[in-house]
This record gives sequence, C-alpha cells and structure tokens, in this order.
Amino acid sequence: MKIEKIGIIGAGIMGSGIAQIAVQRAKFNVLLYDVNQAMLEKAIAGIAKRLGRLVEKGELLATEKDIAISRIVTTHNISDLSDVDIVIEAASEDLDVKKSIFERLDAECKGETVFASNTSSISITKIASFTRRPELVVGLHFFNPAPVMELVELIEGLRSSIPALKIAEETAKAMGKTVIAVKDAPGFVVNRVLLPMINEAVFLLAEGIADAQSIDTAMRLGANHPMGPLSLADLIGLDTCLHIMETLHADLGDDKYRPCPLLRSYVQAGLLGRKSGEGFFKY
Ligand code: 3HC
Repeated sequence: MKIEKIGIIGAGIMGSGIAQIAVQRAKFNVLLYDVNQAMLEKAIAGIAKRLGRLVEKGELLATEKDIAISRIVTTHNISDLSDVDIVIEAASEDLDVKKSIFERLDAECKGETVFASNTSSISITKIASFTRRPELVVGLHFFNPAPVMELVELIEGLRSSIPALKIAEETAKAMGKTVIAVKDAPGFVVNRVLLPMINEAVFLLAEGIADAQSIDTAMRLGANHPMGPLSLADLIGLDTCLHIMETLHADLGDDKYRPCPLLRSYVQAGLLGRKSGEGFFKY
C-alpha cells in the first residue's frame, strides 16, 4: 500500500516533531489534530522555525520548506481524518484520553486505516481493545526530539496483524527512521533501560552522593552520554518519567522499579523540567 495521507493526534512536542519529518522527509500530507487551537498554532510556528534553520544551514531550499509546511492541515475535528492511511496518536499519556480518542477514531476512520500509538508506557494491547479493529492497532514509539532521534520502536500488540505492522514500519522508514521490532511489554526496550537509569540518578541526588551538575557531568564524560540523566529527565518531562517508572513498577511487580520519592516530590511541586521552566535545572 502506498502511504500518502496520515493523521497525527496531538500537536505537542512529539506530535509536532513527527509532523515535521512526515512532511519534510516522507512528503506525506498530514492532518494535524488537537483540541487546542493555541497548540496547533504553536506547532506550525515551531515547525516553520526548525525548517527555517535548515534553510539557513543550506540543508533545505526555501521552496522545499514552503511546500513542506503547505502539506500540513490543522483541524479540531477528528472526522477530518476519515480517509487517512494511518493515524499516529501522540496525545497525553492518560488512559481515559487515549480511550476516548481511539473510540472516536474507530468510529470516524475508514475500515483500513491503521492506528499507531506513540505511547511511552501504556499497553498497545489495551489501547487496541478500545477499538473494533485490534488487528490494525500497533505502537510507533518515537524519541524526543523526534526530528533528530533516529530510532522508532515498532510495537506488536497481542492482536496486531503483520500487514498493519508492515504499514507502520514503512511509515516510520519513509520518515528516515531506523525501526526495531518489539513485543508489547512495559517500557518496551528503550524506556525499560533508560528510565531506571534516570531514576537511579535521582536516588544519587536524593542521597546527597553528588550534586545534579556532577551527576550529569559524570555520565556525559564517564559514559559518553550526549546529555546527563538529570538533564535528560528535564527534557523528557519529570511527570512523564514518573509515569513510566510507575508503570514499570506496577506491571512488572518488582521493587527495583520503585520511583524515587524525590522524583515524585518534584512532580508534586510542579517542577516538571523544561516544559515548566524548572526541573533539576532552571531554563
Ligand atoms: N527539535 C529539533 N531539532 C533539535 C532539537 C529539537 N528539540 N534539539 C536539538 N535539535 C537539533 C539541532 O538543530 C542540531 O541539528 P544540526 O546538527 O543539524 O545542527 C542537533 O539537534 C544537535 O543539537 P545541538 O547542537 O543544539 O545540541 P546537542 O548536540 O547537545 O544535541 C540532543 C541535542 C540531540 C538533544 C542531544 O543532546 C541528545 O541526543 N540527547 C539525548 C536525547 C535522548 O536520549 N532522547 C530520548 C529521550 S527518551 C524518549 O523520548 C522516550 C519517551 O517515551 C520518554
């Protein structure tokens, strides 16, 4: 199947990053849906700014930038996504929100449309159960910042079909991504490894073993990570980090995944990282 038209649900950091590479690299026509008009406007402005930088660096022609942006249509109506080939859902990590979105998508989209969720911690099998087409529901897990990070995890839910997985894989590859196949399991591969590492860094901070800057310097210079674990937590969002740790802890049932109480305190204090202006560091 030739993929031409895709729907993206959610115009936040992930949704807008995915929309950018969908029009810039894959040359798809994108319908970008969000309930919030301000988010849609911010997403388009952000994409224009990032593509503008590529033009300045000589990596994109100004005409290519204009064509890419013209390929994105924003909407508040899920029914506008009725004839897309695939939907990539990047809404907030809230089960009730996902449930209502997937029920609406199932009702509005044509029977062949594949649904891919960018969830970082909710079971794809569970998300699929909100629809009458569980065989067409898969996971496509992108990484932040989506235009830069090369990997996409392709998640196979219990009832995902091979053709649906193939369409999702082709979609991610057209966006220039390297795809790895993963079975549906808490945290998939990357977050199962990455989040316990970040959580351990928060324990080090809480125990006063080293300060935040030193912990990050240690992992950048001692393990060659591009950014330290506490800066990375601020990039991901401390609420998202806590949510993923809670999922790993609850679903795998092992106390080695218990969230550090200090991480919970930061979230309770509204210090969520870059998006709130302060987390382990100030922005
Ligand atoms: N959006 C788009 N492009 C961005 C960007 C953003 N938010 N941030 C940086 N970039 C681009 C820059 O334009 C630059 O492009 P260029 O090389 O063509 O000029 C390139 O990325 C490098 O940027 P910088 O020189 O400003 O900074 P760095 O070299 O420090 O790179 C980084 C920034 C790419 C964020 C790097 O620090 C990094 O790889 N950090 C780790 C990120 C990571 O691990 N992400 C995964 C998080 S886990 C996740 O997302 C899963 C979820 O479920 C929680």
